[in-house]
Amino acid sequence: MPAHPSRKEPGCDALRTTPPPRRAGRGPQVTEDRPLKGKVALVAGASSGIGASIARALAAAGASVALVARRKDQLACVERDVAGHEVPAVTLIADLSADGAPKETVAAAERALGPVDILVNNAALARTGPIHDTNPRHWRQAFHLNLDVPFLLARTVLPGMRERGHGWIVNISSEGSLLQADWSAPYSITKRALNALSAQIDLENRHLGVRAIAVLPGWVRTDLAQDPESLGVGVTDLLDPSDIADVVLWALTRPPAVSIGPLIPVRPVSRSAQTLVNWEQYLRTLRHYDASGGHMVDVPGIPE
Ligand SMILES: NC(=O)c1ccc[n+]([C@@H]2O[C@H](COP(=O)([O-])OP(=O)(O)OC[C@H]3O[C@@H](n4cnc5c(N)ncnc54)[C@H](OP(=O)(O)O)[C@@H]3O)[C@@H](O)[C@H]2O)c1
Repeated sequence: MPAHPSRKEPGCDALRTTPPPRRAGRGPQVTEDRPLKGKVALVAGASSGIGASIARALAAAGASVALVARRKDQLACVERDVAGHEVPAVTLIADLSADGAPKETVAAAERALGPVDILVNNAALARTGPIHDTNPRHWRQAFHLNLDVPFLLARTVLPGMRERGHGWIVNISSEGSLLQADWSAPYSITKRALNALSAQIDLENRHLGVRAIAVLPGWVRTDLAQDPESLGVGVTDLLDPSDIADVVLWALTRPPAVSIGPLIPVRPVSRSAQTLVNWEQYLRTLRHYDASGGHMVDVPGIPE
């Protein structure tokens, strides 16, 4: 018997906070049938937005997928979509910022599905503000999840990839990493460092068939992006999560002799001059965003 008879568990549609694509004809375009069949992908931050879309796209292309995040219900919904593509999948509920979690997560994924061929580092938190008002603890949290965790996951899977002579590290960065915007730290700085990490991994491993890219999305309609329309951002100035998944899938399916990246910005074609102004306004309202805790607003000058 349910604990509270009048309260229903939310279904997947209620949990699907990212609306479906508004424009027709969007979504990953896979030319070859199941080009990733036999590959194992680990998607860090697979429960919503861009990560969920990438997980679905990889499964549609035939990859086995390990779905990693903290929110169980959201992950279960993504797993249901992935299972619809009849590929092996495993859900791993983990806070990747916890001590030892990256290594344990890779081990659990490999026990369930086999060696990881594709690592997607998508989990991140967005914390913004001026440097003089950034709490050192918040600075460290942002660097830990947005940079240390991708590093720790990458260093765990890289030895096996190097030995097998193939593998991909896909880091989801941000167009914000290229822009010097007011109030964008520490988020934009962590993403700039993630770009450098991606280029370094690519440089050190490409001769062995192991490559790394950083995908730098513009403004994408997800939980993290909040409600851009309320800031006056036009529909055509926004991307869908499926646009990012499409680019990731395209990158992963290039012939081995073709070099792309390591930095791949993905922007909407149409972008009004007002969008960057809106973006700075958004950064000022954001301060801290963490998907599982919701949108949290801090008062300036929090003591350490
Ligand atoms: N939306 C945009 O406009 C935009 C633009 C540029 C770049 N990006 C980047 O795109 C990526 C995905 O963001 P999104 O927009 O799709 O937002 P989102 O829907 O909030 O996705 C964030 C994902 O990270 C996971 N995550 C967060 N903290 C975690 C932790 N400690 N351990 C494990 N998983 C964690 C979340 O899952 P749980 O909460 O369930 O753990 C969720 O699956 C981020 O790297 C972001 O910086 C977004």
